[in-house]
Amino acid sequence: MIGIITQDQLKTSPTLREDGRAFDELRPLKIEAGILERADGSSYLEFGGNKILVAVYGPREAQIRKLQRPDRAVIRCRYNMAPFSVEERKRPGPDRRSVEISKITAEALRPALILERFPRSVIDVFIEVLEAEGGTRCAGITAASVALADAGIPMRDMVVACAAGKVNDQVVLDLSEEEDKAGQADVPVAILPRTREITLLQSDGNLSEDEFERALDLAVDGCLRIHEVQKEALRKRYGE
Ligand code: CDP
Repeated sequence: MIGIITQDQLKTSPTLREDGRAFDELRPLKIEAGILERADGSSYLEFGGNKILVAVYGPREAQIRKLQRPDRAVIRCRYNMAPFSVEERKRPGPDRRSVEISKITAEALRPALILERFPRSVIDVFIEVLEAEGGTRCAGITAASVALADAGIPMRDMVVACAAGKVNDQVVLDLSEEEDKAGQADVPVAILPRTREITLLQSDGNLSEDEFERALDLAVDGCLRIHEVQKEALRKRYGE
């Protein structure tokens, strides 16, 4: 018998996305821990077309008095996009977007770190986006967490991030740059995988309550899968 798909079925059945992925499929992901000699901790991540390098320094004594906290370390993050990382050359240096992403990255990572161990200290996290293709804030957090673990900084848990969103009226996982630009919504999420505590939740665009719930569930599920790759990267570096 010949199967006929009606127009109505086409509207409701989940179709493949522009790049051939299913609605709940992540882009190919690779993470490596400990690739820089001079940093205390480092990682390199490729996620779809994203290429991101993270270096961690510290904990070390905060030189600037104003920065010091008597009872704990302070975490500082700098998210930076290389001028050659995007299609249209980016002007070097910080802009509104990178200042915002640096801030939310520090906030997403902080709950995982046992900062009380290092009073008056500072931990610096440098996230260098070498090539960007959508979802860099999440990929940066995922890679930073591996670099922090590589630096031997005591942590309650890892932090892992992933976005979900809405494209062509469909709730999908891990938007590519093209999907992000053409899409209706993007919801970046970061969690501590053990407790599933959310440390970052942003939402750009319009979603119904039901769509938002589905996007959040998809993103958390994506995070848990990405977490397996984080663990594998650390196992490779340090053995079982
Ligand atoms: O990267 P993420 O999705 O977290 O942040 P965004 O602000 O939603 O940016 C989405 C994508 O737009 C980035 O990943 C880049 O691929 C691209 N972009 C760009 O082409 N030029 C910029 N100056 C900033 C972002």
